[in-house]
Amino acid sequence: MARDGAVYVCQSCGAAQSKWSGQCPACSAWNTLVEEVQARPPGAMAPSRASRARGLSFEGLADATPAPPRICTGVDEFDRVCGGGVVPGSAILLGGDPGVGKSTLLLQVVGEAARRGARCAYISGEEAIEQVRARAQRMGLADAPVKLAAETSLRTILDGLKHEPFDLVIIDSIQTLWSDAHDAGPGSVTQVRAAAGELVRLAKKRGLAVILVGHVTKEGTIAGPRVIEHIVDAVLSFEGERGYPFRVLRGAKNRFGATDEIGVFEMGDAGLAEVKNPSALFLDTSGERAAGAAVFAGIEGSRPVLVEFQALVAPSAYGTPRRAVVGWDSGRLAMVLAVLEARCGLGFGDRDVYLNVAGGLRISEPAADLAAAAALASSALDQALPQDCVVFGEVSLSGDIRPVSRMDARVKEAAKLGFRRALAPRDLEGGGVIKVCGAARLADAIRRIGDGDWD
Ligand code: TYD
Ligand code: MG
Repeated sequence: MARDGAVYVCQSCGAAQSKWSGQCPACSAWNTLVEEVQARPPGAMAPSRASRARGLSFEGLADATPAPPRICTGVDEFDRVCGGGVVPGSAILLGGDPGVGKSTLLLQVVGEAARRGARCAYISGEEAIEQVRARAQRMGLADAPVKLAAETSLRTILDGLKHEPFDLVIIDSIQTLWSDAHDAGPGSVTQVRAAAGELVRLAKKRGLAVILVGHVTKEGTIAGPRVIEHIVDAVLSFEGERGYPFRVLRGAKNRFGATDEIGVFEMGDAGLAEVKNPSALFLDTSGERAAGAAVFAGIEGSRPVLVEFQALVAPSAYGTPRRAVVGWDSGRLAMVLAVLEARCGLGFGDRDVYLNVAGGLRISEPAADLAAAAALASSALDQALPQDCVVFGEVSLSGDIRPVSRMDARVKEAAKLGFRRALAPRDLEGGGVIKVCGAARLADAIRRIGDGDWD
């Protein structure tokens, strides 16, 4: 029987239950329900106030003040993903695996913003001030007027922020904060939610922007940042494959901008360098392109990005052939293989198939179907595509190649990087210096690859 005011909160999904059980009824995780006593303010409920509705338009309002301008931090890739700078009074959650570079990115962001005159604070619950300083020095930010603090008590942090005016505050990380108003340990759903709630309230009230770092759930007791996604204004994720220096900043939710924008960085000895031209980075332009490689002309956010799809089709040593894919959707791979079998006569039943997107980027556009199909066919037929050819187009289950968005931008980027041919939907008209090898059906495109017919 639960005590008065006690609830059992799942540390994995955040669902609250009135009774304890071994398995969370909401997310089916085992041993994640923890008793937490809900803090209630002493005394009765506060007297209610009638809320006054206001007009949408500012015009004619006596108390109208124009919205303050966004804070441009000077890290352009970051600003673009935020929708053109950080909105004062907003709260941003930056999620990512431990070690991906979240602290490095945000230190760079506050350092550059402070150099441009913004009043910035960096509050670390994970590192000592000396460690943060040493890192800033290595990144060439030693002279930036950023206020540092190593603190985990929510109360102390809130008091500090009330006494000094700031424009931008970093909390690294939300999982290290604890509030004495709650019994639960740091990192528990209750603490993370309470700390985020209070910080967001303060941000809105005082017009300062807060960026909360959230580690993606490790196994066990640390609450995932997902439980506070709905109370922040924007959720960004910082991603990178192990072993690659590239890091991609992506918007998952943004009340003040588009969510399909990406920022690309390269991790080096002196912190993160912005990559203004990702195509050149993800593309290996040296040497011959081997059979099984196809360059996809994609669009990430507002920018065209060229990446190489690499496929290997090999005889299978086992009864059940393997399908492995990195950087693309495995369901989509299964579909493309099925269409190649059913509509183009290529058999993969007794062969292992590996597909990799070079450079560690994750592609989710349907426009990549044709690039994947071309790479797979090129490997299966052992016929390399021309060195100067890019590929894009959506493949339907009937084997048709459908036009995709912003074909002109794709072709223009390819031309800029020295490509001269495009294997693309037939609807693409004249591509300037690019010769369009249009195909209406996947079978036509595969025939072209098999015959090496590109004129
Ligand atoms: P960090 O920002 O501490 O990651 P997070 O806050 O997401 O846990 O970055 C840690 C990694 O970045 C670490 O493995 C070392 C590497 N790194 C560099 O390669 N160069 C640098 O200049 C810095 C500061 C970090
Ligand atoms: Mg960190």
